[in-house]
Parts: sequence; structure tokens; C-alpha cells
Amino acid sequence: MDVLDAIRSFRPCLQYNPRPISPEKLKTILSAARLAPSQRNLQPWRFVVVQDDERKRLLAQASNRGKLIAEAPAVIVAFAVEEDIPVTIGGYISAYPLDVAVAVDHLQLAATAEGLGTNWIIEFHEDKVRSVLNVPEGVHPIAVIPIGYPAETNGGAKPANEGRKSPDEVIAYDAYPW
Ligand SMILES: Cc1cc2nc3c(=O)[nH]c(=O)nc-3n(C[C@H](O)[C@H](O)[C@H](O)COP(=O)(O)O)c2cc1C
Repeated sequence: MDVLDAIRSFRPCLQYNPRPISPEKLKTILSAARLAPSQRNLQPWRFVVVQDDERKRLLAQASNRGKLIAEAPAVIVAFAVEEDIPVTIGGYISAYPLDVAVAVDHLQLAATAEGLGTNWIIEFHEDKVRSVLNVPEGVHPIAVIPIGYPAETNGGAKPANEGRKSPDEVIAYDAYPW
């Protein structure tokens, strides 16, 4: 699958099959995240793969999307290391979660290409996630990503890209027209 096919066919996964993911597949997907570009090549991301049932159960309790976290065979938690991110975007807003978001997008597209479903959850309690995974000071969870083979109906997910704004609503040339 090429990258445009992965972008066009990506669906957030709303229901997982319990079938385990092979370690090779997980490595391929995590390497795609690791290869993402970042500001000054600081690579401020860290990824923790949670497969242990008890820890997954505790992680599920840290989010209102706990069902997805509990049922997926693995959950990848993406972190930002604060000391690696001294920059702002255009001098006005912290670039803090930006690099990690780029890496997470790489990860989700790589997972799609490997036939796996993912979702991206930001609705979590930071303190609880930190406590379950023994996260030190200065390191912050940015995304909790359940990953696995999608169930056949994928939880009734909408068709890919439904509801997206039209090109005219979001793309312009030469000056800002809206
Ligand atoms: C940065 C980001 C954060 C998200 N956080 C959550 C979340 O906390 N909980 C959730 O259920 N889905 C979350 N999602 C998934 C989005 O809700 C989903 O991708 C969006 O509704 C588009 O879905 P659609 O392609 O079916 O329209 C997140 C997606 C992104 C890109």
C-alpha cells in the first residue's frame, strides 16, 4: 500500500479483534514513528508499548475511552520529553506536542499499511497514565493509541473521510481569502 492509499483508507478503529500483533509488525510500525522528522532533529518522542493485561486494565481506567484500550491487544502510549522542546511556533505558541503528533501520524499510516487499526485518544487523565506506566517528571503523555486488527464491522465506523471540508473551504492560493 502506498502512502496515499494509506491516507485515503485510514479509519479510526472503533472495535478491535483480540488477535495478537506479531512483534515484527509492531517493530515496523514503531520504526515508522521513529523515522519522523522533528524540530532540530531533537526527536522528543518516546513510545511505551503496553501488552500486559493488568497494566492495560489500569490504563483503561485512565480514560473515558477505556473500552478501546482494554480490548485492543496492544496500546502504544506516545510521550513528549519536555527538556527536548525549547521552541515555539513563530514565537507565539509552544511547539510542545507538535513533533510527537507528526510521529503518531507516521505510526497510524504505517499501521494502516500493515492492515492494523489504531485510534488516537487524548481524553485521558495525565496523572493516572503517568502513575500506571511509572513516568518520570518532565515527560508527558501526548497520545494513547490502541492498536490491533479491526473487528469486521469496525464498531460501525463511518466510510473513510466522510464529512471532510471541501477543497475550496480549506485550500487557497496567494492570499488568505476567508
Ligand atoms: C489529535 C487527535 C486526538 C483525538 N482524540 C480522540 C479522543 O480522545 N477520543 C476519541 O474517541 N477519538 C479521538 N480522536 C479520533 C477522532 O475523533 C477521529 O479521528 C475523528 O472523529 C475523525 O473521524 P472520522 O474519520 O470518522 O470522521 C482523535 C484524533 C486526533 C487526530
